[in-house]
Amino acid sequence: MSKGTEKKQILCIGAGYVGGPTMAMIAARCPQHDVTVVDINAQRIKAWQSDDLPIYEPKLLEVVKEARNRNLFFSTEIDENIKKADIIFVSVNTPTKTFGVGAGKAADLQYWEKTARNIVQASESDKIIVEKSTLPVRTARAMERILNANDKGLHFEVLSNPEFLAEGTAIQDLEQPDRVLIGSQETESGIAARQQLVDIYANWVSKEKIVTSNIWSAELSKLVANAFLAQRISSINSISALCEKTEANVSEVARAIGMDSRIGAKFLNASVGFGGSCFKKDILNLVYIAENYGLTEVARYWESVIAINEYQEQRFVRQMIKVMFNTVAGKKITLFGFAFKKDTGDTRESPAIYIAKRLLEEKAQVVISDPKALVNAKNDLAEFGSEVIFEEDPYKASKDAHAIAVLTEWDSFTTLDYDKIYRSMVKPAFVFDGRNILDHDALFKIGFSVFRIGRPSLRHF
Ligand code: UDX
Ligand code: ADP
Repeated sequence: MSKGTEKKQILCIGAGYVGGPTMAMIAARCPQHDVTVVDINAQRIKAWQSDDLPIYEPKLLEVVKEARNRNLFFSTEIDENIKKADIIFVSVNTPTKTFGVGAGKAADLQYWEKTARNIVQASESDKIIVEKSTLPVRTARAMERILNANDKGLHFEVLSNPEFLAEGTAIQDLEQPDRVLIGSQETESGIAARQQLVDIYANWVSKEKIVTSNIWSAELSKLVANAFLAQRISSINSISALCEKTEANVSEVARAIGMDSRIGAKFLNASVGFGGSCFKKDILNLVYIAENYGLTEVARYWESVIAINEYQEQRFVRQMIKVMFNTVAGKKITLFGFAFKKDTGDTRESPAIYIAKRLLEEKAQVVISDPKALVNAKNDLAEFGSEVIFEEDPYKASKDAHAIAVLTEWDSFTTLDYDKIYRSMVKPAFVFDGRNILDHDALFKIGFSVFRIGRPSLRHF
């Protein structure tokens, strides 16, 4: 058989936002291999086996359906599948530690370590272990020690293959990635293992886009890519504050600077702040690593990216309260969007969580409308019980409200009948557009006072 066509048993441990879509794509594009995804969460696995997938991602169901029960399987039988596997991807969660040394910054590697021990205990043959979850630099070394300290004479080769997909565009990102990065040890067995993974991706990704590196570079590149992306958002968000004071328009500034090919146009949308499971966690990781090596200035530099993000969220709420006559107590305020970005139901680290909590502390009556994120929103705000109302229909959600705050850039919010919404609201009616997606002049003409990011407000008083 030619290279890359020999049937392999591929396993992924962790059926989350990364593991599920990535394995679905591998299975769809490599019908010659068997791909199994396992998780300790039986409910999640059941959902992956149904048409009601556990995560919302455009076009994901089509890709899953193409391969499911052909060469894509979801299971809770972890040990049995470890035994059979040639290649094991690990994409279990690596949240920020909430306790002990490094609390609030370092990655909590307990799930990873448990998985590594599980692999050793269940294995009966040599395997390639692929780090998919974002991990702090040099984790591969620790994992390799745990894996290879076995008395069964087994050898495990650890590769780092960080995932760069963004939620909401996961399928597109997996289908046509900017690059696939595979790091390995630069030993003979490391390079051979790396080649096996290259051969899998080469089924649909062009060779020039498959980049190999040493394992530490691969691990660090993931953290650095996310830190740079987040840094661009914090940079433009810091400028948005200045624009609001100077009558400059942040979108015009972004357009002008983005046309410089050295800067580039992407990731310059000023917003209420970035969210998502990666940016903050990865920067904190970078900060922790820098501190560990005594690089205090480096740590402070990256920490400031998070500080600006928090400042952006805080000043958004402060402005809401201030312009609504310094009190929101008892006022109905409708949040349009709770997901951390459009086209996902994910709310992890969403700026909406902070904003909703602050408004609730100020005794506002908060109503949340989101096309896909209401289940997660309910969990995030569980402590507030019936104080928060969840209403998918934006018209019902904004009836009798004093203000609407747009927190997620869902396309559906741009095509609503704002005349109708205005008529149903308490006057004066406010719009706070935290994503700059609405037609502000039109809203102002209707009668709204409009507050936006990085542009002077349009007020009727
Ligand atoms: C990110 C990285 O993009 C991806 O490569 C990595 O694998 C995981 O982390 P994700 O968090 O899913 O992906 O979404 P992303 O599109 O990066 O958006 C993150 C946050 O930044 C969102 O809250 C988004 O609304 C915000 N954002 C993005 C802005 O505020 N302005 C922008 O210009 C771009
Ligand atoms: P990500 O966004 O990185 O994919 P998720 O939290 O969505 O993270 O997914 C991680 C998944 O890993 C969860 O479904 C969780 O149940 C699973 N998981 C955690 N620890 C283990 C383990 N030891 N064995 C199998 N699955 C695990």
